[in-house]
Amino acid sequence: MECVVRPAQSTDCDHVMAMIREIAEYHNELDKVTINSQVLGADRFGGDPFYQCLVAELAPEQDNKQGHLISYVLFFFGYSVNTGRIVYLENLYVVSEFRGRGIGKKLLSEMAKAVLARGCSEMKFTVAAWNSQALAWYRHLGAQDKTEASDWHCFELGAEALRRLAGDGR
Ligand SMILES: CC(C)(COP(=O)(O)OP(=O)(O)OC[C@H]1O[C@@H](n2cnc3c(N)ncnc32)[C@H](O)[C@@H]1OP(=O)(O)O)[C@@H](O)C(=O)NCCC(=O)NCCS
Repeated sequence: MECVVRPAQSTDCDHVMAMIREIAEYHNELDKVTINSQVLGADRFGGDPFYQCLVAELAPEQDNKQGHLISYVLFFFGYSVNTGRIVYLENLYVVSEFRGRGIGKKLLSEMAKAVLARGCSEMKFTVAAWNSQALAWYRHLGAQDKTEASDWHCFELGAEALRRLAGDGR
């Protein structure tokens, strides 16, 4: 399928936000989404960009839906004490009717080019255990399941615990 992959612009935020809600619904976690398109825009296009985002839109030839966003990948840079520059993949989503046509792989391939150009040596991400299709898909691309291979646990310090910790500082 012909599509154009490009960096997201501030004018895409409403549409990307709609896809973020779709993937949250897919994970049955819509109630966990507390951001909106204004926050999304400010956190990327404000003075202190926190993430990068590429989007796929239908190519001009697909006339009636031109400019229609059908996928996004959102990622941010990090640092490993072992290997230096790395990237975290936060979300990759292809609108359901466009899945299985090479779009997810194309987006991830463009992301791979961009992060290699920034000197990153690996990409980290988590996948829900129930999402067997995505697990198989990432394995097909060559990803290694660190939970299986090294028994890593995925931790999160929630807002309340974070505030408590900040308040405990002396
Ligand atoms: C997972 C997802 C991003 C994949 O995108 P997609 O556009 O459907 O996938 P593509 O068509 O680009 O996949 C192409 C390649 O993957 C292979 N593939 C497709 N489905 C596969 C599967 N379930 N298992 C293994 N390989 C698969 C294809 O054979 C093809 O391989 P090739 O290029 O070597 O011939 C998409 O299905 C999606 O958005 N799913 C819902 C949201 C989600 O689960 N996101 C990931 C959460 S972290």
